[in-house]
Amino acid sequence: MKYMKNDGLYYSLESYSNTKAYPFHMPGHKRNTGLLGKAMPFNIDITEINGFDDLHNADGILKKVSEKAQALYNSDRSFILVNGSTCGILAAITSVVHRGSTVIAARNCHKSVYNACALSELDVRFVYPPVTKSGVCGSISPESIRCALEECSDPKAVIITSPTYEGVISDVETIARICHERNAVLIVDNAHGAHLPFCTFGKKGDPISSGADIVVSSLHKTLPALTQTSVAHVMGDRADPERFAKYLSVFETSSPSYVLMASIDACLDFTKSCKKQFAYYENELSEFSKKMSKLEKLKILCAGNDTIEKNGFYSFDRGKIVIETDGTTLSGVELSEILRDEYSLELEMAYPNYALAMTSVCDTADGMKRLADALLEIDKKVTRSKGKQAFPSLPKPMRIRMTNAEIDMLPDLELTREQAASGRYISHKYIYAYPPGVPIAAPGEIIGMFEYEYIEMLKKSGVNIVVK
Ligand SMILES: Cc1ncc(COP(=O)(O)O)c(C=O)c1O
Repeated sequence: MKYMKNDGLYYSLESYSNTKAYPFHMPGHKRNTGLLGKAMPFNIDITEINGFDDLHNADGILKKVSEKAQALYNSDRSFILVNGSTCGILAAITSVVHRGSTVIAARNCHKSVYNACALSELDVRFVYPPVTKSGVCGSISPESIRCALEECSDPKAVIITSPTYEGVISDVETIARICHERNAVLIVDNAHGAHLPFCTFGKKGDPISSGADIVVSSLHKTLPALTQTSVAHVMGDRADPERFAKYLSVFETSSPSYVLMASIDACLDFTKSCKKQFAYYENELSEFSKKMSKLEKLKILCAGNDTIEKNGFYSFDRGKIVIETDGTTLSGVELSEILRDEYSLELEMAYPNYALAMTSVCDTADGMKRLADALLEIDKKVTRSKGKQAFPSLPKPMRIRMTNAEIDMLPDLELTREQAASGRYISHKYIYAYPPGVPIAAPGEIIGMFEYEYIEMLKKSGVNIVVK
Protein backbone atom coordinates (compact mmCIF):
# COMPACT_ATOMS: atom_id res chain seq x y z
CA MET A 1 0.00 0.00 0.00
CA LYS A 2 1.61 3.17 -1.21
CA TYR A 3 1.04 5.34 1.87
CA MET A 4 2.84 2.91 4.20
CA LYS A 5 6.36 3.86 5.24
CA ASN A 6 8.85 1.11 4.52
CA ASP A 7 10.27 1.34 8.06
CA GLY A 8 6.76 0.89 9.53
CA LEU A 9 5.55 -2.06 11.56
CA TYR A 10 3.87 -3.76 8.60
CA TYR A 11 7.08 -4.04 6.60
CA SER A 12 9.08 -5.15 9.63
CA LEU A 13 6.58 -7.96 10.14
CA GLU A 14 6.62 -8.84 6.43
CA SER A 15 10.40 -9.00 6.27
CA TYR A 16 10.58 -10.98 9.51
CA SER A 17 8.14 -13.48 8.03
CA ASN A 18 10.51 -13.97 5.10
CA THR A 19 13.43 -15.03 7.34
CA LYS A 20 14.12 -18.67 8.26
CA ALA A 21 13.08 -18.13 11.90
CA TYR A 22 10.76 -20.94 12.95
CA PRO A 23 8.09 -20.03 15.49
CA PHE A 24 8.10 -22.22 18.60
CA HIS A 25 5.76 -19.72 20.17
CA MET A 26 2.20 -18.51 19.93
CA PRO A 27 0.01 -18.19 17.89
CA GLY A 28 -0.82 -21.78 17.03
CA HIS A 29 -1.10 -21.23 13.28
CA LYS A 30 2.70 -20.81 13.19
CA ARG A 31 2.45 -18.56 10.14
CA ASN A 32 2.14 -21.70 8.03
CA THR A 33 0.67 -20.15 4.92
CA GLY A 34 1.72 -23.26 2.94
CA LEU A 35 -0.83 -25.20 4.98
CA LEU A 36 -3.43 -22.53 5.65
CA GLY A 37 -3.24 -20.24 2.61
CA LYS A 38 -2.58 -16.50 2.55
CA ALA A 39 -6.11 -15.19 2.84
CA MET A 40 -5.60 -14.68 6.59
CA PRO A 41 -2.56 -12.58 7.55
CA PHE A 42 -0.98 -15.47 9.50
CA ASN A 43 2.45 -14.50 8.24
CA ILE A 44 2.46 -11.30 10.30
CA ASP A 45 0.51 -12.52 13.34
CA ILE A 46 3.08 -13.03 16.09
CA THR A 47 3.42 -12.64 19.86
CA GLU A 48 5.90 -10.58 21.92
CA ILE A 49 9.05 -12.12 20.47
CA ASN A 50 12.48 -10.53 20.49
CA GLY A 51 12.54 -7.25 18.55
CA PHE A 52 8.78 -6.70 18.56
CA ASP A 53 8.29 -5.07 21.95
CA ASP A 54 5.46 -5.57 24.51
CA LEU A 55 2.43 -3.28 24.34
CA HIS A 56 1.96 -3.24 28.11
CA ASN A 57 5.58 -2.31 28.71
CA ALA A 58 6.55 -0.71 25.43
CA ASP A 59 10.05 0.64 24.82
CA GLY A 60 10.72 -0.27 21.20
CA ILE A 61 8.79 -0.56 17.97
CA LEU A 62 5.37 -0.30 19.69
CA LYS A 63 6.42 2.73 21.72
CA LYS A 64 7.26 4.34 18.39
CA VAL A 65 3.73 3.70 17.14
CA SER A 66 2.29 5.35 20.27
CA GLU A 67 4.65 8.28 19.79
CA LYS A 68 3.50 8.55 16.21
CA ALA A 69 -0.09 8.83 17.46
CA GLN A 70 1.05 11.40 20.01
CA ALA A 71 2.71 13.53 17.31
CA LEU A 72 -0.18 13.18 14.88
CA TYR A 73 -2.83 14.18 17.42
CA ASN A 74 -0.55 16.62 19.23
CA SER A 75 -1.31 14.96 22.57
CA ASP A 76 0.80 14.78 25.72
CA ARG A 77 0.72 11.00 25.90
CA SER A 78 -0.99 8.52 23.58
CA PHE A 79 -1.76 4.84 23.97
CA ILE A 80 -2.68 2.51 21.14
CA LEU A 81 -5.54 0.13 21.95
CA VAL A 82 -6.57 -3.20 20.46
CA ASN A 83 -9.76 -3.82 22.46
CA GLY A 84 -11.55 -0.86 20.94
CA SER A 85 -12.48 2.34 22.73
CA THR A 86 -14.30 0.12 25.20
CA CYS A 87 -11.07 -0.81 27.03
CA GLY A 88 -9.87 2.82 26.89
CA ILE A 89 -13.10 4.08 28.47
CA LEU A 90 -13.00 1.39 31.19
CA ALA A 91 -9.38 2.29 31.99
CA ALA A 92 -9.97 6.06 31.78
CA ILE A 93 -12.81 6.11 34.30
CA THR A 94 -11.30 3.53 36.65
CA SER A 95 -7.99 5.41 36.70
CA VAL A 96 -9.48 8.67 38.02
CA VAL A 97 -11.95 7.43 40.66
CA HIS A 98 -12.03 5.43 43.88
CA ARG A 99 -14.74 2.94 44.78
CA GLY A 100 -17.98 4.86 45.41
CA SER A 101 -16.72 8.22 44.05
CA THR A 102 -19.17 10.66 42.54
CA VAL A 103 -19.04 11.27 38.78
CA ILE A 104 -21.21 13.09 36.30
CA ALA A 105 -22.04 11.39 33.02
CA ALA A 106 -24.09 12.36 30.01
CA ARG A 107 -27.10 10.04 29.89
CA ASN A 108 -26.44 9.30 26.21
CA CYS A 109 -23.07 7.69 26.97
CA HIS A 110 -22.17 4.29 25.56
CA LYS A 111 -22.65 1.20 27.73
CA SER A 112 -18.88 0.99 28.34
CA VAL A 113 -19.21 4.16 30.46
CA TYR A 114 -22.06 2.60 32.45
CA ASN A 115 -20.02 -0.59 32.89
CA ALA A 116 -16.99 1.32 34.17
CA CYS A 117 -19.22 3.16 36.67
CA ALA A 118 -20.81 -0.11 37.79
CA LEU A 119 -17.45 -1.84 38.29
CA SER A 120 -16.34 0.86 40.75
CA GLU A 121 -19.87 1.23 42.20
CA LEU A 122 -19.79 4.94 41.46
CA ASP A 123 -22.42 7.44 42.48
CA VAL A 124 -23.40 8.61 38.98
CA ARG A 125 -25.31 11.85 38.45
CA PHE A 126 -26.66 12.06 34.92
CA VAL A 127 -26.99 15.13 32.71
CA TYR A 128 -29.45 14.97 29.83
CA PRO A 129 -28.94 16.34 26.32
CA PRO A 130 -31.87 17.96 24.56
CA VAL A 131 -33.50 15.77 21.90
CA THR A 132 -34.46 17.01 18.40
CA LYS A 133 -37.90 16.44 16.91
CA SER A 134 -36.56 13.40 15.06
CA GLY A 135 -34.98 11.94 18.22
CA VAL A 136 -31.30 12.88 17.82
CA CYS A 137 -29.54 13.80 21.08
CA GLY A 138 -28.13 17.32 20.94
CA SER A 139 -25.00 18.85 22.45
CA ILE A 140 -24.50 18.63 26.21
CA SER A 141 -24.84 22.16 27.53
CA PRO A 142 -21.99 23.50 29.67
CA GLU A 143 -24.66 24.94 31.98
CA SER A 144 -26.06 21.47 32.71
CA ILE A 145 -22.56 20.32 33.67
CA ARG A 146 -22.09 23.36 35.90
CA CYS A 147 -25.40 22.71 37.69
CA ALA A 148 -24.62 19.01 38.16
CA LEU A 149 -21.16 19.83 39.56
CA GLU A 150 -22.63 22.34 41.99
CA GLU A 151 -24.83 19.62 43.43
CA CYS A 152 -21.89 17.32 44.28
CA SER A 153 -19.47 17.75 47.14
CA ASP A 154 -16.46 16.03 45.58
CA PRO A 155 -17.03 15.19 41.90
CA LYS A 156 -14.10 13.21 40.55
CA ALA A 157 -14.90 13.14 36.85
CA VAL A 158 -17.27 14.21 34.10
CA ILE A 159 -17.81 11.91 31.14
CA ILE A 160 -19.41 13.01 27.88
CA THR A 161 -19.60 11.65 24.33
CA SER A 162 -18.48 14.07 21.64
CA PRO A 163 -19.11 13.60 18.79
CA THR A 164 -22.04 11.29 19.32
CA TYR A 165 -22.85 8.34 17.10
CA GLU A 166 -24.93 10.74 15.00
CA GLY A 167 -22.14 13.36 14.82
CA VAL A 168 -23.28 15.93 17.38
CA ILE A 169 -20.37 17.79 18.98
CA SER A 170 -20.42 19.54 22.39
CA ASP A 171 -18.57 22.63 23.56
CA VAL A 172 -15.69 20.72 25.14
CA GLU A 173 -13.63 23.84 25.80
CA THR A 174 -16.24 25.47 28.05
CA ILE A 175 -17.13 22.15 29.68
CA ALA A 176 -13.43 21.49 30.41
CA ARG A 177 -13.06 24.91 32.03
CA ILE A 178 -16.10 24.29 34.24
CA CYS A 179 -14.82 20.83 35.24
CA HIS A 180 -11.38 22.13 36.10
CA GLU A 181 -12.81 24.89 38.32
CA ARG A 182 -14.19 22.01 40.42
CA ASN A 183 -11.06 19.86 40.07
CA ALA A 184 -12.99 17.23 38.14
CA VAL A 185 -11.30 15.33 35.33
CA LEU A 186 -13.03 15.58 31.94
CA ILE A 187 -13.14 12.32 29.98
CA VAL A 188 -14.39 12.58 26.41
CA ASP A 189 -15.62 9.48 24.63
CA ASN A 190 -14.46 10.47 21.16
CA ALA A 191 -15.01 6.99 19.71
CA HIS A 192 -16.56 8.56 16.60
CA GLY A 193 -14.15 11.46 16.23
CA ALA A 194 -10.69 10.11 15.34
CA HIS A 195 -10.89 11.71 11.87
CA LEU A 196 -12.11 15.13 12.97
CA PRO A 197 -8.79 16.92 13.63
CA PHE A 198 -7.95 16.29 9.96
CA CYS A 199 -11.18 17.75 8.56
CA THR A 200 -11.79 21.50 8.39
CA PHE A 201 -15.27 21.00 9.83
CA GLY A 202 -13.91 18.98 12.76
CA LYS A 203 -11.68 21.52 14.47
CA LYS A 204 -14.44 23.14 16.53
CA GLY A 205 -14.87 21.13 19.71
CA ASP A 206 -11.80 18.94 19.13
CA PRO A 207 -11.37 17.52 22.68
CA ILE A 208 -7.58 17.12 22.55
CA SER A 209 -6.94 20.81 21.88
CA SER A 210 -9.94 21.97 23.95
CA GLY A 211 -8.79 20.97 27.42
CA ALA A 212 -10.20 17.45 27.92
CA ASP A 213 -8.01 15.34 30.22
CA ILE A 214 -8.56 11.91 28.70
CA VAL A 215 -9.82 11.36 25.15
CA VAL A 216 -10.59 7.95 23.69
CA SER A 217 -11.05 7.57 19.92
CA SER A 218 -11.80 4.51 17.80
CA LEU A 219 -9.54 4.51 14.75
CA HIS A 220 -11.56 1.69 13.27
CA LYS A 221 -14.81 3.62 13.17
CA THR A 222 -13.84 6.56 10.98
CA LEU A 223 -10.34 5.94 9.65
CA PRO A 224 -8.84 3.10 7.63
CA ALA A 225 -7.88 0.71 10.44
CA LEU A 226 -8.94 -2.79 11.38
CA THR A 227 -11.83 -3.36 13.78
CA GLN A 228 -10.94 -3.02 17.49
CA THR A 229 -8.19 -0.47 16.90
CA SER A 230 -8.36 2.72 18.95
CA VAL A 231 -6.17 5.32 20.54
CA ALA A 232 -6.38 7.07 23.93
CA HIS A 233 -4.77 10.39 24.83
CA VAL A 234 -3.96 11.61 28.34
CA MET A 235 -3.53 15.38 28.46
CA GLY A 236 -2.13 17.75 31.10
CA ASP A 237 -1.54 16.68 34.69
CA ARG A 238 -5.03 16.12 36.14
CA ALA A 239 -5.12 12.51 34.97
CA ASP A 240 -2.09 10.33 35.62
CA PRO A 241 -0.92 8.48 32.47
CA GLU A 242 0.76 5.81 34.64
CA ARG A 243 -2.52 5.04 36.44
CA PHE A 244 -4.25 4.96 33.07
CA ALA A 245 -1.60 2.50 31.81
CA LYS A 246 -2.05 0.39 34.94
CA TYR A 247 -5.80 0.02 34.36
CA LEU A 248 -5.34 -0.46 30.65
CA SER A 249 -3.41 -3.60 31.40
CA VAL A 250 -6.37 -4.75 33.52
CA PHE A 251 -8.95 -4.22 30.77
CA GLU A 252 -6.93 -4.91 27.63
CA THR A 253 -5.90 -8.31 26.41
CA SER A 254 -2.44 -9.53 27.42
CA SER A 255 -2.06 -10.89 23.87
CA PRO A 256 -2.45 -7.78 21.70
CA SER A 257 -2.71 -8.62 18.02
CA TYR A 258 0.25 -7.51 15.90
CA VAL A 259 -2.02 -7.47 12.90
CA LEU A 260 -4.22 -4.89 14.64
CA MET A 261 -1.23 -2.88 15.84
CA ALA A 262 0.27 -2.86 12.33
CA SER A 263 -3.08 -1.60 11.11
CA ILE A 264 -2.92 1.25 13.66
CA ASP A 265 0.58 2.14 12.47
CA ALA A 266 -0.51 2.15 8.83
CA CYS A 267 -3.62 4.19 9.68
CA LEU A 268 -1.49 6.85 11.39
CA ASP A 269 0.80 7.03 8.34
CA PHE A 270 -2.20 7.28 6.05
CA THR A 271 -3.77 10.05 8.11
CA LYS A 272 -0.54 12.02 8.25
CA SER A 273 0.36 11.75 4.60
CA CYS A 274 -2.94 11.60 2.71
CA LYS A 275 -4.07 15.22 3.06
CA LYS A 276 -5.39 15.15 -0.50
CA GLN A 277 -7.69 12.29 0.42
CA PHE A 278 -9.20 14.38 3.24
CA ALA A 279 -9.66 17.34 0.86
CA TYR A 280 -11.34 14.99 -1.61
CA TYR A 281 -13.58 13.65 1.19
CA GLU A 282 -14.70 17.12 2.23
CA ASN A 283 -15.42 17.97 -1.37
CA GLU A 284 -17.54 14.81 -1.75
CA LEU A 285 -19.49 15.74 1.39
CA SER A 286 -20.10 19.27 0.07
CA GLU A 287 -21.32 17.94 -3.26
CA PHE A 288 -23.59 15.49 -1.45
CA SER A 289 -24.97 18.26 0.74
CA LYS A 290 -25.72 20.44 -2.31
CA LYS A 291 -27.62 17.59 -3.96
CA MET A 292 -29.61 17.03 -0.77
CA SER A 293 -31.00 20.57 -0.87
CA LYS A 294 -33.40 19.23 -3.54
CA LEU A 295 -35.07 16.86 -1.06
CA GLU A 296 -38.67 17.80 -0.34
CA LYS A 297 -39.79 15.27 2.25
CA LEU A 298 -36.73 13.52 3.59
CA LYS A 299 -34.18 15.74 5.33
CA ILE A 300 -30.46 15.39 6.03
CA LEU A 301 -29.46 16.63 9.47
CA CYS A 302 -27.19 19.70 9.15
CA ALA A 303 -26.87 19.28 5.38
CA GLY A 304 -28.83 20.38 2.32
CA ASN A 305 -31.17 23.12 3.56
CA ASP A 306 -30.69 22.21 7.21
CA THR A 307 -28.06 23.87 9.42
CA ILE A 308 -26.24 23.28 12.69
CA GLU A 309 -27.82 26.45 14.11
CA LYS A 310 -31.39 25.34 13.34
CA ASN A 311 -30.76 22.27 15.48
CA GLY A 312 -29.09 24.19 18.30
CA PHE A 313 -25.95 22.02 18.20
CA TYR A 314 -22.56 23.41 19.19
CA SER A 315 -21.02 21.76 16.12
CA PHE A 316 -21.54 18.73 13.89
CA ASP A 317 -19.50 16.10 12.07
CA ARG A 318 -20.56 16.49 8.44
CA GLY A 319 -19.33 12.97 7.76
CA LYS A 320 -22.41 11.56 9.50
CA ILE A 321 -25.36 11.46 7.12
CA VAL A 322 -28.45 11.37 9.33
CA ILE A 323 -31.48 10.94 7.08
CA GLU A 324 -34.57 12.17 8.90
CA THR A 325 -37.89 10.62 7.94
CA ASP A 326 -40.24 12.50 10.25
CA GLY A 327 -41.56 14.55 7.31
CA THR A 328 -42.72 11.30 5.66
CA THR A 329 -44.82 8.27 6.47
CA LEU A 330 -41.65 6.12 6.44
CA SER A 331 -39.79 5.18 9.60
CA GLY A 332 -35.99 5.30 9.68
CA VAL A 333 -35.99 1.51 9.87
CA GLU A 334 -38.22 1.24 6.75
CA LEU A 335 -35.98 3.68 4.88
CA SER A 336 -32.88 1.64 5.71
CA GLU A 337 -34.68 -1.51 4.50
CA ILE A 338 -35.56 0.15 1.18
CA LEU A 339 -31.95 1.29 0.77
CA ARG A 340 -30.76 -2.25 1.48
CA ASP A 341 -33.33 -4.16 -0.58
CA GLU A 342 -33.72 -1.88 -3.59
CA TYR A 343 -30.37 -0.09 -3.79
CA SER A 344 -27.93 -2.50 -2.09
CA LEU A 345 -26.86 0.22 0.33
CA GLU A 346 -26.32 -1.00 3.91
CA LEU A 347 -26.58 1.73 6.54
CA GLU A 348 -25.00 1.87 9.99
CA MET A 349 -28.18 2.11 12.07
CA ALA A 350 -31.83 3.02 11.97
CA TYR A 351 -34.17 4.54 14.51
CA PRO A 352 -37.88 5.34 14.38
CA ASN A 353 -37.42 8.75 12.75
CA TYR A 354 -34.00 8.62 11.15
CA ALA A 355 -31.37 6.38 9.63
CA LEU A 356 -27.63 6.89 9.79
CA ALA A 357 -25.15 6.50 6.93
CA MET A 358 -21.57 6.75 8.17
CA THR A 359 -19.04 8.01 5.68
CA SER A 360 -15.27 8.11 5.82
CA VAL A 361 -12.27 9.34 3.95
CA CYS A 362 -12.29 5.98 2.13
CA ASP A 363 -15.72 6.36 0.55
CA THR A 364 -15.74 6.42 -3.23
CA ALA A 365 -17.36 9.05 -5.44
CA ASP A 366 -19.49 6.28 -6.89
CA GLY A 367 -20.72 5.19 -3.41
CA MET A 368 -21.63 8.76 -2.47
CA LYS A 369 -23.43 9.26 -5.81
CA ARG A 370 -25.40 6.05 -5.34
CA LEU A 371 -26.62 7.19 -1.93
CA ALA A 372 -27.54 10.67 -3.21
CA ASP A 373 -29.38 9.28 -6.25
CA ALA A 374 -31.24 6.73 -4.12
CA LEU A 375 -32.38 9.35 -1.59
CA LEU A 376 -33.56 11.73 -4.32
CA GLU A 377 -35.51 8.92 -5.97
CA ILE A 378 -37.07 7.71 -2.70
CA ASP A 379 -37.94 11.29 -1.78
CA LYS A 380 -40.06 11.57 -4.94
CA LYS A 381 -41.99 8.41 -4.08
CA VAL A 382 -42.65 8.78 -0.36
CA THR A 383 -45.81 10.26 1.07
CA ARG A 384 -45.57 13.40 3.16
CA SER A 385 -46.64 12.76 6.74
CA LYS A 386 -49.54 14.71 8.19
CA GLY A 387 -47.39 15.80 11.12
CA LYS A 388 -45.66 13.18 13.21
CA GLN A 389 -45.35 13.76 16.92
CA ALA A 390 -41.96 14.97 18.15
CA PHE A 391 -39.79 12.13 19.45
CA PRO A 392 -39.89 11.92 23.26
CA SER A 393 -37.00 13.11 25.39
CA LEU A 394 -34.69 10.52 26.97
CA PRO A 395 -36.20 8.55 29.85
CA LYS A 396 -34.96 9.58 33.30
CA PRO A 397 -35.49 6.42 35.35
CA MET A 398 -35.21 6.80 39.08
CA ARG A 399 -32.01 5.27 40.39
CA ILE A 400 -31.63 3.24 43.54
CA ARG A 401 -28.07 3.12 44.86
CA MET A 402 -27.25 -0.56 45.12
CA THR A 403 -24.08 -2.58 45.31
CA ASN A 404 -23.30 -5.02 42.51
CA ALA A 405 -24.05 -7.88 44.91
CA GLU A 406 -27.49 -6.41 45.68
CA ILE A 407 -28.20 -5.99 41.96
CA ASP A 408 -27.19 -9.61 41.34
CA MET A 409 -29.79 -10.69 43.90
CA LEU A 410 -32.68 -8.82 42.24
CA PRO A 411 -35.36 -11.22 40.97
CA ASP A 412 -35.14 -12.00 37.25
CA LEU A 413 -38.69 -10.80 36.49
CA GLU A 414 -39.92 -10.22 32.96
CA LEU A 415 -40.72 -6.58 32.25
CA THR A 416 -44.47 -6.31 31.59
CA ARG A 417 -46.87 -3.37 31.40
CA GLU A 418 -48.25 -4.39 34.81
CA GLN A 419 -44.77 -4.51 36.36
CA ALA A 420 -43.96 -1.05 34.96
CA ALA A 421 -47.29 0.34 36.12
CA SER A 422 -46.60 -0.92 39.67
CA GLY A 423 -43.71 1.58 39.93
CA ARG A 424 -41.68 -1.08 41.74
CA TYR A 425 -39.89 -2.81 38.85
CA ILE A 426 -36.15 -2.39 39.41
CA SER A 427 -34.16 -3.33 36.34
CA HIS A 428 -31.52 -5.96 37.00
CA LYS A 429 -30.17 -5.69 33.46
CA TYR A 430 -29.25 -3.10 30.86
CA ILE A 431 -31.91 -2.35 28.28
CA TYR A 432 -30.57 -0.66 25.15
CA ALA A 433 -31.11 -0.28 21.43
CA TYR A 434 -28.22 -1.85 19.53
CA PRO A 435 -26.77 -0.09 17.74
CA PRO A 436 -25.90 2.38 19.27
CA GLY A 437 -25.60 0.70 22.72
CA VAL A 438 -26.76 3.65 24.83
CA PRO A 439 -28.71 2.29 27.83
CA ILE A 440 -32.37 3.25 28.15
CA ALA A 441 -32.29 1.70 31.62
CA ALA A 442 -29.42 0.35 33.69
CA PRO A 443 -29.30 -2.12 36.58
CA GLY A 444 -30.70 -0.55 39.74
CA GLU A 445 -33.06 1.80 37.89
CA ILE A 446 -36.84 1.77 38.24
CA ILE A 447 -38.68 1.20 34.99
CA GLY A 448 -41.97 3.06 35.09
CA MET A 449 -44.59 3.59 32.41
CA PHE A 450 -42.64 6.29 30.51
CA GLU A 451 -39.61 3.98 30.15
CA TYR A 452 -41.86 1.02 29.28
CA GLU A 453 -43.73 2.92 26.53
CA TYR A 454 -40.42 4.27 25.19
CA ILE A 455 -39.01 0.75 24.86
CA GLU A 456 -42.25 -0.54 23.30
CA MET A 457 -42.26 2.33 20.79
CA LEU A 458 -38.70 1.46 19.71
CA LYS A 459 -39.57 -2.23 19.41
CA LYS A 460 -42.66 -1.46 17.30
CA SER A 461 -40.52 0.59 14.90
CA GLY A 462 -38.29 -2.43 14.33
CA VAL A 463 -35.36 -1.22 16.45
CA ASN A 464 -33.29 -4.05 17.92
CA ILE A 465 -33.64 -3.93 21.73
CA VAL A 466 -31.12 -5.83 23.83
CA VAL A 467 -31.76 -6.84 27.46
CA LYS A 468 -28.53 -7.93 29.11
C1 LIG B 1 -20.20 6.40 21.54
C2 LIG B 1 -19.42 5.12 21.60
N1 LIG B 1 -18.46 4.99 22.53
C3 LIG B 1 -17.72 3.87 22.64
C4 LIG B 1 -17.94 2.81 21.80
C5 LIG B 1 -17.07 1.59 21.94
O1 LIG B 1 -16.11 1.63 20.92
P1 LIG B 1 -15.34 0.33 20.42
O2 LIG B 1 -16.28 -0.41 19.52
O3 LIG B 1 -14.17 0.89 19.66
O4 LIG B 1 -14.96 -0.45 21.60
C6 LIG B 1 -18.94 2.90 20.82
C7 LIG B 1 -19.20 1.77 19.92
O5 LIG B 1 -20.05 1.77 19.07
C8 LIG B 1 -19.69 4.08 20.72
O6 LIG B 1 -20.66 4.21 19.79
